[in-house]
Amino acid sequence: MAKQTWLTGITTSGTPHIGNYVGAIRPAVQASQDLTRDGFYFLADYHALIKSQDPARLVQSRQEIAAAWLALGLNVDHVTFYRQSDVPEIMELTWMLNCLAAKGLMNRAHAYKALVQANIDQSGADADPDKGISMGLFGYPILMAADILMFKATHVPVGRDQIQHLEMTRDVAQRFNHIYGEHLVLPEVVVEEDTAVLSGLDGRKMSKSYDNTIPLFDTARKLRKSIMKIVTNSQEPGEPKDTAGNTVFEIYQAFASAEQTAALATAYADGIGWGDAKQQLFELIDSVLAEPRERYEHLMAHPDEIDAVLEAGAKRARALSAPYLDELRHAVGIAR
Ligand code: TRP
Repeated sequence: MAKQTWLTGITTSGTPHIGNYVGAIRPAVQASQDLTRDGFYFLADYHALIKSQDPARLVQSRQEIAAAWLALGLNVDHVTFYRQSDVPEIMELTWMLNCLAAKGLMNRAHAYKALVQANIDQSGADADPDKGISMGLFGYPILMAADILMFKATHVPVGRDQIQHLEMTRDVAQRFNHIYGEHLVLPEVVVEEDTAVLSGLDGRKMSKSYDNTIPLFDTARKLRKSIMKIVTNSQEPGEPKDTAGNTVFEIYQAFASAEQTAALATAYADGIGWGDAKQQLFELIDSVLAEPRERYEHLMAHPDEIDAVLEAGAKRARALSAPYLDELRHAVGIAR
């Protein structure tokens, strides 16, 4: 079997929260230990620029996310960890792909369509359906395609919401190969079905846009405070409690061993009070995160150490992307 190349992008908007940890960071860090495959992990800062025009926030978020991945043990000796913006070849490939991508196909992108629908819902049928929608947002899937195709990724693990983007990537790559010959590698989507999607403080999906997250690397005191804010029902201590659909239990389970989970389930049946259940949740998460938190705080205080890792990653990435882009330039007829 040919060696697999796995690639994942992380949009650098927002502060990492425990939902990101369980759903994305933890599985990716584990995968980075797999020496039988190549790995590319990058900070999608040009994707973040679509969402945020706050420069200080972008810098902050990039550092927080890079520090979090490093603190949690991403194996950067084996995988290539870099900033998208440090690989200018990605932007050049984006343009080549833009010139092939059918606009009609892009019109059908879910993320774009949802915004158009929101405009129509808000302001009626005579509203401008494209109000507030930038070309960057419209072209988001093509930038993502370039990220993937630039490193000949064979496997791209994503959430359900990104499946369509992978289909678009394959579509545009096929078109390129059809016109210019077999240069691009068609990636396979890997949908991570079994990674948990955590609920947030209010019981809805944990997400920055709902403002209901538990930050990953707050101090222990703040972490405890966040956990105590998780919304529960009005059942009293002593009343048996249901574990199904219970946010405290669900988050506990995402961090616990099978035995620990079984013990908490018994405590629920025995009527543990919500305050005690939350205290157990806090102690569990804190025990998992205490050590990485120290590394995280160190890195945040020494951004030059983060930069050094990312620069080394960019160097490795560009050793591949530069000659490959040259090949592609020849293929399309714009080589010097
Ligand atoms: N669009 C992805 C997200 O929002 C991030 C991303 C950008 C990505 N480029 C990628 C993911 C390439 C996988 C491959 O989560």
